[in-house]
Amino acid sequence: MTFDPSVVAAVTAHMNDDHPEDNLLIVRAFGLPEASAASMAGLDENGGTWIAEVPSGRQELVVPWSHRPVTERPQIRRAVVTLYRTACERLGVTPREEHGSAPAGHAPAAAGRGPAAAADGSAEGFAARLRSATWSDHGDSEGASFMADILRGRGTLDDYAELVAQHWFLYDALEEAAGALSSDPRLATLHPEGLTRRAALDRDLVRLRGQDWRRRIAAVPATTAYVARIRAIAAEGWTAGLVAHHYTRYLGDLSGGQHIARRVSAQFGFDDAGAAFYDFGAIGDPAAFKAAYRSALDAFGAELSPAEQQRMLNEVRRAYRFNTAVFEDLGAARTAA
Ligand code: HEM
Repeated sequence: MTFDPSVVAAVTAHMNDDHPEDNLLIVRAFGLPEASAASMAGLDENGGTWIAEVPSGRQELVVPWSHRPVTERPQIRRAVVTLYRTACERLGVTPREEHGSAPAGHAPAAAGRGPAAAADGSAEGFAARLRSATWSDHGDSEGASFMADILRGRGTLDDYAELVAQHWFLYDALEEAAGALSSDPRLATLHPEGLTRRAALDRDLVRLRGQDWRRRIAAVPATTAYVARIRAIAAEGWTAGLVAHHYTRYLGDLSGGQHIARRVSAQFGFDDAGAAFYDFGAIGDPAAFKAAYRSALDAFGAELSPAEQQRMLNEVRRAYRFNTAVFEDLGAARTAA
């Protein structure tokens, strides 16, 4: 079985952008000890393919997964992490702690391990649980073809501008609702002032659609539904629901969003505006913020009843589905144009 090319592209792009040193460890441990650099070139149900720089030139290496076959999208990250850990073992390197209990190849630095994680006596904190229970929905959003095209440099400037326009409608609702978090001492960590995106979106839209951008943007139906859902949750005063939407967007923007920013900035030559939405300089170190965010989620989740935890988790899944639907609508609008 072969995976959809968009899945392969997302995984290899992430490994090559964010984990070049892990690629090298894997090829060194699995057959090419003399390699000086390596990149991931592909994968299928049986294993991953890497291209390594060796003294004689370039060499391809196929490394079988430890547990075959790998047939589902969420299993891929686990399979790569297992190779990484085996490689560390073989080479006597201490594996990075953050790859420990991840459901996927990108374990959060603090999820499930901070003091708050242990507070409810469970081995896994709520942030880690949220992540593992929703990771396949994440894969659906990440793999949507509109998004995959943008990630692969196949999207046009107009496609990207349409996406930014949808963000504007969405963050208008989300940030209006999120004010309630800042005034709640348990949740203020989640929503520091520097996190808000509306001002950056305004700047990006001036760059992408001109000064009169507000008259020139429209929400696709899925965005309208997404916004309505956020406003309904805010009106109801359902804090856990609001946190679910907050988490899905902001942690995503701070994670995969950073890949998107690099791609589109390189492709369209943006400087200070165009992809300002993804610039989180105002919150300081993004990794530290994500760790603090996950600790706050752990503490928040530990206070919820099991039923309420489940309800929140369902809302995160719903948030992912909204995002996937927005990509689908944008894809359909593009085809129709
Ligand atoms: C463009 C394609 C995408 C790529 C390549 C991507 C990639 C990633 C990566 C590598 C992580 C792990 C980062 C870390 O643990 O620090 C991550 C986390 C996350 N992404 Fe995405 N992502 C994409 C799209 C999305 C979308 C569309 C959403 C939803 C709006 C989203 C929401 C999230 C969330 C909430 C997390 C944090 C999960 C957690 O650790 O609890 N991502 N993403």
